[in-house]
Amino acid sequence: MTNPKIIDGKAFAENLRARLARQVAALRAEHGLVPGLAAVLVGNDPASEVYVRSKARAMRAAGMNSFEYRLAARTDEAALLDLVQRLNGDPAVHGILVQLPLPKQIREAAVIDALDPAKDVDGFHVVNAGRLSTGGQGMIPCTPLGCLMLLKDRLGDRDGGLAGMRAIVLGRSNIVGKPMAQLLIRESCTVTVAHSKTRDLAAECRRAEIVVAAVGKPEMVKGDWIGEGAVVIDVGINRIPAPTAENPGRTRLVGDVAFAEALPRASAITPVPGGIGPMTIACLLANTLTAACRQRGVTLRD
Ligand code: GUN
Repeated sequence: MTNPKIIDGKAFAENLRARLARQVAALRAEHGLVPGLAAVLVGNDPASEVYVRSKARAMRAAGMNSFEYRLAARTDEAALLDLVQRLNGDPAVHGILVQLPLPKQIREAAVIDALDPAKDVDGFHVVNAGRLSTGGQGMIPCTPLGCLMLLKDRLGDRDGGLAGMRAIVLGRSNIVGKPMAQLLIRESCTVTVAHSKTRDLAAECRRAEIVVAAVGKPEMVKGDWIGEGAVVIDVGINRIPAPTAENPGRTRLVGDVAFAEALPRASAITPVPGGIGPMTIACLLANTLTAACRQRGVTLRD
């Protein structure tokens, strides 16, 4: 039997995707609306190709349209901005995802600024970041949204839910750390954002009842950094060498948290792989569906 402390992000994401597929089918039947995502990939970074392909596959599996745009690595900024403008104006496209990182000659900020905020399913546009921090209705970045769903699933039944809990977010990126902190503030947590300059990170961490680690450093968070009974969300996906006699080139995936050490102290913890990873794509589907409904003024039933 699996350990009940381990948060099964894969199973949660599968349920979410099944529910989204039912909602998409109802939307098509009742409103003739099929949500569509345009995924733009510039160049041929192998990891990005894998991500874009799996996003497209998940879209189609949920009954949504997926439009893929592949541009050469030497594409200039003006050409990409041109494509973004066209997609902004295309009524069949409800969500636009420009896969990052972009080649050096293209400024990421200029591309993100050019997106119609209503179609920015990554939630990276400054309007969406602003809405998240001021309590408005915007698009929420997929990874922090997935983290929050898993936290609410574990802690929602607690008296008051997440309200009043001490949370620490390790990492201050625009993609994960900052929006995660904003979401936790919105849930009335008391939030600390820690980063590479934080003094005595271990002590800061140990006081927290919720730990979200998003630093991209393999197993940086040690077991004794975790307070007794804390809920631990590990966003890291790090590939490290794991050679064996038969396979000296073997590697494996680990998170930002030393899982085996943290497990006995945590009350719940996400594994890597199988924790937050699968949630990110499921949340992209959710955001695309939400964007389509808002653009057409349709209210979703559960
Ligand atoms: N590259 C790595 N993660 C992401 C993501 O969530 N969105 C986009 N657009 N690019 C990424």
